[in-house]
Amino acid sequence: MKYFIRTYGCQMNERDSEAIGAALEEAGFTRGSEEDCDLLLFNTCSVREAAERKAKGKIGYIRKLKLKKPSLIIGVTGCMAQRLGEELLRELPHLDFVLGTGQMQRLVPLVQELMKERRRCSETELSAEVLESMGGHDQSPSWHGQIAITRGCNRFCSYCIVPYVRGREISRTKESILTEARALTERGVREILLLGQNVAAYGLNGDVRPPAPDHSPFAELLEELNEIPGLLRIRFTSPYVSYFNPRLISAMKNCEKVCRNVHLPLQSGSARILKAMNRQYTAQSYREKVAEIREAIPGITFSTDVIVGVPGEEDSDFALTRELMNEVGFEQAYIFKYSPRPGARSALLEDSVPEEVNEERNQILLDDLKERIGARLSGLVGSTQEVLLEGVSARNPGRWSGRTSTNFVVHFEPDETCSPGTLRQVKISRSGAVSLFGSLLP
Ligand code: 5AD
Ligand code: SF4
Repeated sequence: MKYFIRTYGCQMNERDSEAIGAALEEAGFTRGSEEDCDLLLFNTCSVREAAERKAKGKIGYIRKLKLKKPSLIIGVTGCMAQRLGEELLRELPHLDFVLGTGQMQRLVPLVQELMKERRRCSETELSAEVLESMGGHDQSPSWHGQIAITRGCNRFCSYCIVPYVRGREISRTKESILTEARALTERGVREILLLGQNVAAYGLNGDVRPPAPDHSPFAELLEELNEIPGLLRIRFTSPYVSYFNPRLISAMKNCEKVCRNVHLPLQSGSARILKAMNRQYTAQSYREKVAEIREAIPGITFSTDVIVGVPGEEDSDFALTRELMNEVGFEQAYIFKYSPRPGARSALLEDSVPEEVNEERNQILLDDLKERIGARLSGLVGSTQEVLLEGVSARNPGRWSGRTSTNFVVHFEPDETCSPGTLRQVKISRSGAVSLFGSLLP
């Protein structure tokens, strides 16, 4: 029996797809292709309308595969499955099952049941049982591994559907995360990316109040991961700024394996809009946090998420976002145009920003970013950077690429000693629009 999974959306979904694949392989399935498989899964995203539209379009198109091969089982998992449930079965008559985000542990048994006796079903109860069931990994050798340390979100930002489709925030035990990290490292993984909607809330038992300055179970987790022999780098995404406390900053500073890069979602630079978004910080406190982190860890780089065009965003609010982004000087940013999500609180408000204005704001921030990244990269020409080698570069098969701890991509000519997952020094000779070029030092 062959399976194929098409994944939409965030890294958490990528990670879930890997865990689903591992569970299916353990049950005797092998990986096939979209055109040649017995089980076709769509692991979907709901964060913006476009992601749902794209997945629905693709699932609709796949109907012709089912006509050719009626035994094909088609299932939808992930956030759109959770949000729409039965409605998807009604809308897409060739769909066999819908499995919500809290029911992933049911996937293998459900597929086995359906193979014996065909029926259509939707299971979307948000159960916490899923938490420890998603630890499986693909066994193919790789230098990079990802571990989901929390699931769900308790923040309820007014624009966001995630708390509704992923449920309440729950943290895995430290022991199970460490066991998974050690197992990955023994298989050759050298860099681990920790995932969660708000990783810095790890171990706080869902308490929405940011922890006391000297308390951070997430910091303790980083310290223990830092001790794993053979592991070279630890990354995480994303921490909510209000939880990024002095205890966490000092752990980052003292843990040499923790990368010098933080993805710190800003969303808006206007205090008024942040309040409307139900974000628990102001533009000023965000600024101060970045300064505090920079002072403790010189050279650290920042990336962020920003949404333009939320209901009520005036030109003056947008100007504040633009100003704050330029002031912080993010080395990377993901800029999103607001998408009303039925179910999220802000969807009840009038979508007041016209699409052209939205597009214009988006473009302005992208242009600023392009200019800033170009300048930051050219400032690194002539420096020597420590790079974790990743392998043959996607664009040019004659080159290899890797990343600095600060998350800049570096391309170089390989030598015969190159192997993915090793650290090498690279002398930077030139910069491009989004990456660096250099030569390996012996
Ligand atoms: N519209 C646009 N962007 C959104 N995000 C979350 N919800 C929405 C929405 N309704 C963005 C936020 C978040 C990122 C993952 O997606 O910036 O950090
Ligand atoms: Fe959504 Fe806010 Fe939770 Fe992030 S912190 S997942 S934006 S509700």
